[in-house]
Amino acid sequence: MAKLTINGREIEAPEGAPLVEVIKQNGFYISSLCYIDGLPPYAGCRTCLVEIEGAPGLQLACSTQVRDGMVVRSDTPEVKEARQAVLSIINANHSDRCLTCHRRVRCMPGDICLRDDVVTHRCVTCAKNYRCELQTTNELLKMESYEPWEGEERTYYQKEPPEPDRVNPFLEFDPQMCIICTRCVRACHDIRHTGAITLACRGYETRIAFGVGGAVHESNCDFCGACLDVCPTATLMEKPNKWIARTEDWVSTTCNSCSVGCTISMGVRNGRAVIVKPDRLNLVSDDQICVRGRFHYDAIKDSEHLSRPLLRRDEILRPSSWEEALETAAERLAQLREQHGPGAIAFLGSPFATNEENYLLQKLAREIVGSTHIDFTVGPVARAAAEALTAAFGTEALPGDMTDIASARTLLVVADDLESSHNVAALRVKDAVVRSSARLIVVSPRYGEVCDFAEPYGGVWLRAEAGGEAAAVASLVASLAARREVVAAAEAEGLSAVEAVTRAPKAPGVETEALERAATILAQAAADRESGLAVIYAPNHIGAVAAGETARAVANIALLCRGREGGARSLHVLPVEANVNGARDMGVAPDLLPGRRPVEGEPGLGFQQIVEAAGGGSIRALVVLKDNPLMFAPAKGAVREALGKLDLLLVIDDLLTDTAKLAHVVLPDVPAYGREGTFTSADRRVLRLRLAVDASGEARPAWRALSELGQRLSTRLSAGVEFSYDGPAAVMEEIGKVVPAYAPFRYGDFTLWGKGRALDGAAPERAVLQLVAAPEIAPADGTFALLTGRTLYTSLEGACLHLPEADKLQREEFVEVHPADAADLRIGRGQQVALANGTAELVLPVRLTEAVPRGAVFVPLYYDGGAVTALVAPEDGLAGPPRIRLAARSED
Ligand code: SF4
Ligand code: SF4
Ligand code: SF4
Ligand code: SF4
Ligand code: FES
Repeated sequence: MAKLTINGREIEAPEGAPLVEVIKQNGFYISSLCYIDGLPPYAGCRTCLVEIEGAPGLQLACSTQVRDGMVVRSDTPEVKEARQAVLSIINANHSDRCLTCHRRVRCMPGDICLRDDVVTHRCVTCAKNYRCELQTTNELLKMESYEPWEGEERTYYQKEPPEPDRVNPFLEFDPQMCIICTRCVRACHDIRHTGAITLACRGYETRIAFGVGGAVHESNCDFCGACLDVCPTATLMEKPNKWIARTEDWVSTTCNSCSVGCTISMGVRNGRAVIVKPDRLNLVSDDQICVRGRFHYDAIKDSEHLSRPLLRRDEILRPSSWEEALETAAERLAQLREQHGPGAIAFLGSPFATNEENYLLQKLAREIVGSTHIDFTVGPVARAAAEALTAAFGTEALPGDMTDIASARTLLVVADDLESSHNVAALRVKDAVVRSSARLIVVSPRYGEVCDFAEPYGGVWLRAEAGGEAAAVASLVASLAARREVVAAAEAEGLSAVEAVTRAPKAPGVETEALERAATILAQAAADRESGLAVIYAPNHIGAVAAGETARAVANIALLCRGREGGARSLHVLPVEANVNGARDMGVAPDLLPGRRPVEGEPGLGFQQIVEAAGGGSIRALVVLKDNPLMFAPAKGAVREALGKLDLLLVIDDLLTDTAKLAHVVLPDVPAYGREGTFTSADRRVLRLRLAVDASGEARPAWRALSELGQRLSTRLSAGVEFSYDGPAAVMEEIGKVVPAYAPFRYGDFTLWGKGRALDGAAPERAVLQLVAAPEIAPADGTFALLTGRTLYTSLEGACLHLPEADKLQREEFVEVHPADAADLRIGRGQQVALANGTAELVLPVRLTEAVPRGAVFVPLYYDGGAVTALVAPEDGLAGPPRIRLAARSED
């Protein structure tokens, strides 16, 4: 540590730290309009001048590093005046009338500027008024009393302002207010590794440009909003609520759109969210989120949320009172239990529900109704991956910490498109490659942006054929296991039967040379145990068998490269939805009680069996908490038919989903950001959701609906179970008693949120290599493999309601087809095509792209509310991806 003096105060700071950050961290004000904390200095704005004893003239604090014995003054009259002079040059090319006006606080937005009647744009008419860093800088440097250009003409007022770009739904670019600080350029390039913004032209003509200078949405911008957070002016701003986003309060809560679980800070006004920013509380997401976390808070209108309970009468869902809806639900459930027994009632929880809600649902199922049939639609996929991990390590609760990804030196990503499914995890992968010179191996049939960070940086993209991921990873394992030094190290770690994994199924589509290159990278990682290794696997929604086999294969990689430590530190399994881990921890599984304790006796029915039993008539009632099988489950037609046969379908949701439309009783939940509760992220961080927005109409939080329903049922069935809770905090208290890993998490204690993890001190206790059985890839036979998955832009809520604006950018409303396949079938760009599997057909426009391999097509899972699942058959052993026929649709 260095000792230095700032404005007469002695301070300790790390030797070499940027002086500007040390000044700010110690509570001194310093203007720094082009600096971004943590990035190298740009030193362009010159507003961070300070005096340093012994140094000539004034120095820039951003490009000065702390040295021991340094004496710094940031508050002398000379320093202040120099900063004013510098700022006045910036102001000269800005709409500065209000900035330098002594009476600006008395002006109202509609007033004509009394200084200059030709000026229209100024702070009082600007969307960033009162929340603008340039404005604050002017105020703190007292620019209203500094006017060196009196009487001279400003460049800003001498030219026509450039055209703003307001075309896309997320981000407005109004270059007339740009001060060319380049923060946005560096945020996009250095923090996001995207490079959508550049400095175009030279000298006086220098300007900020997106892509090749066109509209923002035509560039490779993915609307993460990192540039919005750093722009010190109104040049780059959020389009939604741009003019009203002066907040009354900021609420720290959790994004619900994937299992990374980024913490977001939600600005609220009049009970509505108006802006979202990253909240650094969460060490994984830190200062970054993606387009979903930032903009999906207003994906749908308030009026599109359910606001009243609904009861089916005369075949139509009609509004009812809560009393009537709860009574009806309790009475019908009690009757059905009496007539058909507890086994006739099944329950679906959800990875979109909180831990508290899922806990209450399973308690209602097991302790009041007495049913063991509980799961969620993607439960089978989660279960298959968890079973593979448990067989390898003795636990599915792996302690791998996602904050380690950015510092890994070797990464293996097995995912369809991690950039789209888990954006901030992909960002941490890119951080490792760009900042730590890590080498990245990607195993994926489909192109995703992380592939660009593999080969060009010394890594490898193994482009397996569709369905060939497990075989590709198993081949990597075999190649590793054939290397004597890797085997010796693995055996020294106590791994046995290494020989068994040297035989791998053929990896279709993967070239031997690329496979060997990837294996060599992993072998080098295996040899250097001190270097960071991150093996990241994101299972697809569809295909439990493939998920289980691929999980076995990635576990083998971690074990071969790191032994027991592989499970403890290097392996990260990322479910797609936000709270899959929490749902399993709470016992939303046919074979698990809360705390993932195995059930005694026969497990209940899993999702697929529940659907089959409903179709066959042995399940008579289904209680659905925020799940939507008609969006996510394979064989949509069969699921719809089975749900249609139920005597009682009770749905608790904030949206009238396809599943809710079939219900007999619908209990309206509050919107995603109107809830209190917790999620458990991919790396088992327990994250708080806080109430940020108002409920719609009479909607009540699901925990309360469950509590009231449970209490009524308990009475009717004489179950003797106390089921009355006064809030999710009380539910969490109870969870902590039955699930020790959650005992530390108390609503009143903020210390753990975003940092604490539900691990219960568990460490992997086994280290077992497993054989991998690769799914069989069917012969092409004129058909195509159908791929689907989570894409970046389409909102869950919009998709559930089939809204045309679910994908506001309209980037995901296509089936992707390889151009060569399209040419063979005489399919032209943008043409409508039909995908058919013999029982269902889906017609949509085509996008020709080499992002999909030949012989496969890709349809976004959220397109038209999961329309693609109609083409997916129920799981069938080791069969590979579903096959469809593809044909051009005539234009008539
Ligand atoms: S960007 Fe800031 S300084 Fe410029 S007009 Fe708007 S509020 Fe004023
Ligand atoms: S929104 Fe993100 S990707 Fe787009 S320009 Fe800004 S930083 Fe770059
Ligand atoms: S757009 Fe904003 S962040 Fe980018 S250079 Fe201009 S003022 Fe700076
Ligand atoms: S990465 Fe996932 S959790 Fe983070 S903001 Fe994006 S969707 Fe939300
Ligand atoms: S912050 Fe130092 S020059 Fe801009």
